[in-house]
Amino acid sequence: MLSRLLSQFPLLSSLLNLTPLGNTNQLPLTPSIHTSQCPNPPPLSCPFPPPRSIDSCCLNHPSGHFLQTQFWDTAPALGPNTSWTIHGLWPDLCAGGFDQFCDDARSHEDIRAVLQSINPTITRDLLAYMDAYWLSLDGRDNHLWSHEWNKHGTCISTLDPGCYADENPDLAVLDYFVHATSLFQTLDTFSVLAEAGILPSDHERYSLSELEEAVEFSPHGYPVTFRCHSGELNEVWYHFSVKGSLRNSYDDGTHQVSSPFLNATTVNQIFVPTDPDGAKSNCPARGIRYLPKSKSPGGGKPRPSPTRTTTSATSTPTLPPFTGKGNLVVHVIDDDLSNDAERSASTQKGCLIRLGYWYLSGTCATFKAQADVVDPGHSPLFSLSSSYSPCFINPGTGRFECTKATAVQSIFSSDSHDPTVLSYHDSTIFYADHVPQRFDKVDIYADDGDGTRNVQLEINWVPS
Ligand SMILES: *[C@@H]1O[C@H](CO)[C@@H](O)[C@H](O)[C@H]1NC(C)=O
Ligand SMILES: *[C@@H]1O[C@H](CO)[C@@H](O)[C@H](O)[C@H]1NC(C)=O
Repeated sequence: MLSRLLSQFPLLSSLLNLTPLGNTNQLPLTPSIHTSQCPNPPPLSCPFPPPRSIDSCCLNHPSGHFLQTQFWDTAPALGPNTSWTIHGLWPDLCAGGFDQFCDDARSHEDIRAVLQSINPTITRDLLAYMDAYWLSLDGRDNHLWSHEWNKHGTCISTLDPGCYADENPDLAVLDYFVHATSLFQTLDTFSVLAEAGILPSDHERYSLSELEEAVEFSPHGYPVTFRCHSGELNEVWYHFSVKGSLRNSYDDGTHQVSSPFLNATTVNQIFVPTDPDGAKSNCPARGIRYLPKSKSPGGGKPRPSPTRTTTSATSTPTLPPFTGKGNLVVHVIDDDLSNDAERSASTQKGCLIRLGYWYLSGTCATFKAQADVVDPGHSPLFSLSSSYSPCFINPGTGRFECTKATAVQSIFSSDSHDPTVLSYHDSTIFYADHVPQRFDKVDIYADDGDGTRNVQLEINWVPS
């Protein structure tokens, strides 16, 4: 198949009157010869049943099931305290199992040099990102990059030299690292776990189902494979089908390429989440440790925003409360305290996390308030959703819940005197059975459970 493709290319390029790319110091900004001949819209990898013939430059085949694998390394700690790091981008065979080291002729020992030789200006940002997020336990990061390319990258059919015709075949190396890093930027495992209340800790233990559900109910929306080392969470594998070719990063001739990365929209068009194949989790069902990279989990430098197009969310302080995005901060109502300032200083305790639980430690979930009806002279009405799911007061239990499993969203309002205070059915008081302990996740309710719920709360909107 590949030799057939190769032999086609001189003919194709002369037919299309394309000039070979002479200057390898420039990225090619013309449409690739081959992908322009591919079906549009691009097909999804691992079609079933497999068609009689597949153009392996247009579709990743026979290795069409992709894994984006990430490390959580704590000894020694690698990378930012609040981010997982990249292991690799691996093509598995559609039929199961995987090929490896598919082309010795394209093995490299110095990926940094290869990338720099393609275009130092554009690959500078790529290499800086890899220096921060693609790290080897033994400190030889460049060696890990080479290993990942040699073992896995060379098995990606759409990165075959035959798919690059007269162009610099090292562009395949660039395409591999661009896709691996861009995909990683859309899979922020640390934040997804943190928003489900799962934070690195020296003491806390987590169950495998807790970890799995956190990712399954994130934008990824599919099961992933967690891997452990001596009962410690160490790795996660995300699984994808791939639409079309990975040979398409720089085919926009209309403007100068300014960033080596693909934006999230493009990544999500190419990589389509799918169920895991092959190796299963080797983590115990419960008692899993997720150790901090430092003594101050979550206290490290936050990772740079993955979407560089939306530059550092310069929050607009003029927005009224319960507009746009914010955190829901919990205040315990203590009748002994006389004034509001004293109350707020002394009783703020934690906030709501993604599924609607009350939690003291770690990251507050980002909620979105969406105006429902504006009734002049009255407080605006709005609905709330956490990052991924609508929130509602469960009519059966009175519990505040944010879950994809519901199609219902409750309508909330705010207090007429203090518009930062959440109100439901004209009451600003919410209830809980107890104040959470350090790693406790506590349900909150809109009613007092016939007097059984002892803790009274107020929930405040803090814009984020
Ligand atoms: C993402 O990148 C594509 C291709 O460069 C571009 O057409 C699109 O407008 C970008 N989308 C966003 C949201 O920046
Ligand atoms: C991680 O935390 C440790 C201890 O607080 C600190 O020394 C280190 O600089 C942090 N690293 C990053 C990347 O934030």
